[in-house]
Amino acid sequence: MAAAPKAVYWLGKDTLRVSAALFAENRRRLCEGLKAKDGVVPQSVVVLQGGEQKQRYCTDTDLLFRQIADVLSNLRPATLLTLRGLNTDSGSICREASFEGISRFQVNNTLLHPVIVECRLIKTDMELEVLRYTNRISSEAHKMVMKHVKPGQKEYEMESLFQHYCYNKGGMRHTSYTCICGTGSNSSILHYGHAGAPNDKTITDGDMCLFDMGGEYYCYSSDITCSFPANGKFTADQRAIYEAVLRSSRAVMAAIKPAVKWTDMHRLADRVHLEELVKIGILNGSVEDMLKVHLGAIFMPHGLGHLLGIDVHDVGGYPEGVERIDEPGLRSLRMGRLVQERMVLTVEPGIYFINHLLDQALANPAQSCFINNQALARFRGFGGVRIEDDIAVTADGVELLTCVPRTVEEIEAFMADSAKLFSPVVSSEKF
Ligand code: GLY
Ligand code: MN
Ligand code: MN
Repeated sequence: MAAAPKAVYWLGKDTLRVSAALFAENRRRLCEGLKAKDGVVPQSVVVLQGGEQKQRYCTDTDLLFRQIADVLSNLRPATLLTLRGLNTDSGSICREASFEGISRFQVNNTLLHPVIVECRLIKTDMELEVLRYTNRISSEAHKMVMKHVKPGQKEYEMESLFQHYCYNKGGMRHTSYTCICGTGSNSSILHYGHAGAPNDKTITDGDMCLFDMGGEYYCYSSDITCSFPANGKFTADQRAIYEAVLRSSRAVMAAIKPAVKWTDMHRLADRVHLEELVKIGILNGSVEDMLKVHLGAIFMPHGLGHLLGIDVHDVGGYPEGVERIDEPGLRSLRMGRLVQERMVLTVEPGIYFINHLLDQALANPAQSCFINNQALARFRGFGGVRIEDDIAVTADGVELLTCVPRTVEEIEAFMADSAKLFSPVVSSEKF
């Protein structure tokens, strides 16, 4: 007799087959984690709130949702384990399952959350395969955009090209977050692309582009940023800032391995940025002294990177007992734990010229003493550069999941060569 076909989620053609075993394995890991915990009685049942049908405002047009409500039936559970816990990034508490008649059951809403968070923190082989796929398709989509970008186009046209590629070639109907397609000074607006600034500027010659876009497949995310000049050729200043960020990105990647502190990786990126800004002439003085007054956070006011998985900012960055460090920059870091094998993280250093932060630093004598205002003036309106890659932590380093042109030479050669859409840029980088 022929073997029964294995259950897969798949969108046909060349898209990835995701085995239902991936989810079975995650349920098994969850049960194992729960069994190891005091207080979970046998015959308990995990109940998660399903997605709900919602309309767009008061119309009859349905929004898409990703999960169908399940019915708990024919079971006589000792306890229902429901999910209630704090999202340490948004500060919101996840919505606990509820249904008519739940009051007839014994419910425990404290045991499940820490166990599920630990499961999500460490990726299985099958999950890594899906994350490699989301990265491969999203990297190709970024390359497609780089080939097509031209002064005169709108930022949203680039967003649309990216989405089209991800869906058309990768079966990725959703992006993991709203696309950020900032050009010129918009590239220093960290969450540009929102409803109030919907990627609607016309791209001009001389602009830097900062495109932060990632596709999602069966709920697994990717989160990639490419920064490059719209006209395909870096100016001297653009090259200097870009290479400063690339240097910090690669210094961090070379240092990541199990047991390093993620907060130290953030500090390392800050240090490299400051050293490079001294070489460029924007700063002068001792980098040690600059670090003491948190000058790095003026140029990189966000965290170095975050966990990635089912959510783009995945859960588990601050479990009980791990506190956020209340310092500029570091307080925005979404993960405070030690790095562990099989974590998937973003590495996303950036240098931005944000007027109100620059003015704030210039008004603070402890910081302004390091700033060469004449040199800095040249960079007002420059925008920013971010280089964001996704990595999986291995036993002794990292696996780079993202594959896009990264050095100045690779970017310029790739953008100049219109013939070969996917000319190999494949990085041979090893960390
Ligand atoms: N795209 C959101 C982030 O980089 O965290
Ligand atoms: Mn991003
Ligand atoms: Mn990110």
